[in-house]
Amino acid sequence: MHKIGILTSGGDCQGLNAAIRGICKALYKEFGGDNLEIVGFLNGYKGLIKKEYKILKPLDFFEIIGLGGTILGTSRLPFKKLKDIEDDQIDKVETMKKSYREMGLECLLVLGGNGTQKTANFLSNEGLNIISLPKTIDNDIWSTDMTFGFHSAVNAATLFIDNIYTTAKSHGRIFIVEIMGHKVGWLTLYAGIAGGADIILIPEIPYNAESILKCIENNRKEGKNFSIIAMAEGASSNLILNQDNNQGKKKSVSYELAIELSKFTTQEIKVAIPGHYQRGGSPCPYDRILATEFGAAAAELVKQKAYGKMVSLKNGKISSTDLNEIAGKLKAVPYECDMIKNARNVGICFGDCD
Ligand code: F6P
Repeated sequence: MHKIGILTSGGDCQGLNAAIRGICKALYKEFGGDNLEIVGFLNGYKGLIKKEYKILKPLDFFEIIGLGGTILGTSRLPFKKLKDIEDDQIDKVETMKKSYREMGLECLLVLGGNGTQKTANFLSNEGLNIISLPKTIDNDIWSTDMTFGFHSAVNAATLFIDNIYTTAKSHGRIFIVEIMGHKVGWLTLYAGIAGGADIILIPEIPYNAESILKCIENNRKEGKNFSIIAMAEGASSNLILNQDNNQGKKKSVSYELAIELSKFTTQEIKVAIPGHYQRGGSPCPYDRILATEFGAAAAELVKQKAYGKMVSLKNGKISSTDLNEIAGKLKAVPYECDMIKNARNVGICFGDCD
C-alpha cells in the first residue's frame, strides 16, 4: 500500500486545487485505487502537527480543476518560528516527524511558496521524503520560471487597473493602484504593462518622487489629464530587497506615496488597493494547465522515489530542482531584463530617471 501525504501551506492562490487534482489523478493512474491511500492534511503543516487530515478519494478531487482556494485549507507557519516552542509547548519539528512516521507515510507532497519551501527543505534534511510544488501569486520562487497562481493574479490585477482607468480618466485624477507581490515586482510589472499604467514602481527599482511627477506632468502636456501608477506593495524609495523586514506590518506604501506627491501637485490623487481579490476566484487556463502538469510531474517523482526536490518550469520544460538549492533564495525581477527594457521603450516610467 502506498500511503502518500499532501498539504497546502502559506497564502492560498488560484490553481492549488488543480494541482491537488493533478497529483491525485496521476497517483491513481500509477498505483491504482486499491493500492493507494492519499492523506490530505488540513490547514497546512498544522494538520501534520495535529494529525488532522482527510483521505482523498476520487470524488473529492474530480471536479475541482476550476475551483479557487484549496480544498485542504491552509495556514502560515513562519519558518523563523519553526523551531520555537511557543505557548502550546509543542515541538513542531519533532511532532511533524512523529506524525509522519506513526502514520507510515511513504512521502509528503507540499504545495507552497517561499516560506513553505524552506520548511519543506528543512524536513527533507531531517529525513522525511519530501516533494514540493511551487505555488504563489508572487512568482518569486527560485529555479522555476513560473509558479501557478501568478497568471490568474495578473488577470485579476489587470482587470482592476482597467476599471480604475475609466474612472481616473473621467475625473482627471492620479490613481495609485497598490498591487501584491510581497518583496518582488513581478505581479506589478505584468499587470502594470497589461493595464496600460503610465508608471510602474517595483521593489527592485528604487523610485524618486521627482521622476514620477515629471512623468505626470508630461502626460498633462500631451493632453492626457490622468495618470495611473501601478505600485508594488514592496516598492520603496530605498532598495529593500532581501532585508528581513515584514512588509505586511508596514504602512501602505501607496498612501505614503500619495502624501509625498500631494506636496508637489494640486491634481487630485486617489489610492485603490485590490488586496486579496487578486488571490481569489477561479484559476485562469494557464494556471490550470501548469498546476496539472506540476501535479503529474510530482507524481512521477513519487514513482521514482526522487525525494528532496521541487518540480519546476525551466525554459518551457517541466523539470525539478533540489530543495537545498532553492531554500532561502528569492527570484526578483532582474533590473536589466527585456521586459523592463521594452516597457521603457513604450514610455513607461519606473520612477528612477529624471
Ligand atoms: O505571498 C502571497 C501574498 O499574497 C503576498 O503577495 C502578500 O504580501 C501576502 O501573501 C499577503 O498575506 P496574507 O494573506 O497573510 O495577508
